[in-house]
Amino acid sequence: MVSRKWLANDMMYQIAVVGTGYVGLVAAVCFAEIGHHVTCLDVDGDKINLCKSGIAPFFEPGLQELLARGLEQGRLFFTTDVNQAYRDAAAIFIGVGTPEQPDGSADLSSIAKVARQIAENVKQDCLVIVKSTVPVGTNDKVEQFVRDFKKNGIRIEVASNPEFLAQGSAVHDTLQAARIVIGTSSRWAEDLLTDIYKPFGLPIVSVSRRSAEMIKYAANSFLALKISYMNDIANLCELVDADILDVAKGMSYDDRIGAKHLNAGIGYGGSCFPKDTKALEFLAKQHGYNLRTVKAAIDVNRDQKTILIRKASSRLITFSGLKIAALGLTFKPGTDDFRESAAIDNISFLLHEGAEVFAYDPVGTPNFQKLFPQGRHEAGNITYVTQPRDALKNAHACFIFTEWQQIKEITPQDYRQLMHTPLVFDGRNILSIKEMAKAQVEYYSIGRQRKG
Ligand code: UGA
Repeated sequence: MVSRKWLANDMMYQIAVVGTGYVGLVAAVCFAEIGHHVTCLDVDGDKINLCKSGIAPFFEPGLQELLARGLEQGRLFFTTDVNQAYRDAAAIFIGVGTPEQPDGSADLSSIAKVARQIAENVKQDCLVIVKSTVPVGTNDKVEQFVRDFKKNGIRIEVASNPEFLAQGSAVHDTLQAARIVIGTSSRWAEDLLTDIYKPFGLPIVSVSRRSAEMIKYAANSFLALKISYMNDIANLCELVDADILDVAKGMSYDDRIGAKHLNAGIGYGGSCFPKDTKALEFLAKQHGYNLRTVKAAIDVNRDQKTILIRKASSRLITFSGLKIAALGLTFKPGTDDFRESAAIDNISFLLHEGAEVFAYDPVGTPNFQKLFPQGRHEAGNITYVTQPRDALKNAHACFIFTEWQQIKEITPQDYRQLMHTPLVFDGRNILSIKEMAKAQVEYYSIGRQRKG
């Protein structure tokens, strides 16, 4: 029998969450917030200690507050001890990483490690729920793996519960999710998972495990495709003198298309779209299928990431010795994560070409510095500044990579007055062409009409 805890006036569960990254930690604090008892397990002792002391190990709006409340109310616990985490757990959620391998496939070694650990340590019936993004068929394998290593007669089943949160709005996306997808292979698992999610009061889509796994990849790849499609159209807009902002607006009123993820720019980054599109393409290839649409999204995105450099190269004779302002280092605003951000490719090119880069980001600098420490790199140099306008002082060109509010607040006059040469390449379309022209700033953006 599944062990249940009766708290307040509702039925609450003892839950373990493995992995305190974006997926695991956000799920954990939200489960605690709605009343479950949650123990988080991670191999990283420093991260666990930080969480125990109420400090979120990464920046995410609302996370700190829920973490503190969960600890204060005695519903949230952190440990590196497997036995403590799994003791009495009715459900164990796995939220460990599935990084991309060189061939595009997902690395499932962390999942396998956790599955084996569960099989060897759990002493009561429980449901293991895979939240990490995993290729179709992985849940079947995890369940088999658990059975192979299980020593006693307890019942352990595996369910799929993909995560749809976006970084920067992760807490909101969890507490107010559009839907919760659960993939189960028995009535017992379906009932238990439905019960755990009941207090959220959100729509639950209950399907097979394989369909749940596919929903995650199909949804992310569709969104990536939407962005690449808009980038493709934006590039065509430039050639025919149409404006992508107007085009997107005109499209957005059609609710079959929808208004979200229609922003053309410098390509999608982050830890999800680039990895998941490649993993889906790899899965298709493994099954002898050529997934042409997703492949096209990947190709367009690769080219889009360097579009500003191509624009700048046709305007400038060299980057060598030029002072370049780089605004925004993270893959999007609201996060300190810079994985697969456009800033990486562009800054690394600029440094290779001998530019003096002055970089600004409101929260992403400490992480970005791990990849590009302040100082010399190849022929160039990078300096980090704490105020966006400091990056602009005497700059010969400015690149905008992320649409942070602090960067949006820089006025056309600021560019005009602070820069040596007011020349701006905007990868996020955050400025008005008309206002920039009025301030006599030479301005290049993505897919917009030349006259604005
Ligand atoms: C994405 C999905 O939006 C989530 O639903 C999903 O759960 C998550 O991946 C995941 O699989 O974990 P995330 O990567 O945090 O979330 O961020 P998004 O807001 O989707 O943005 C991804 C990238 O696309 C960013 O680089 C962003 O700048 C870019 N983007 C987004 C555009 O270029 N244009 C748009 O219109 C929207």
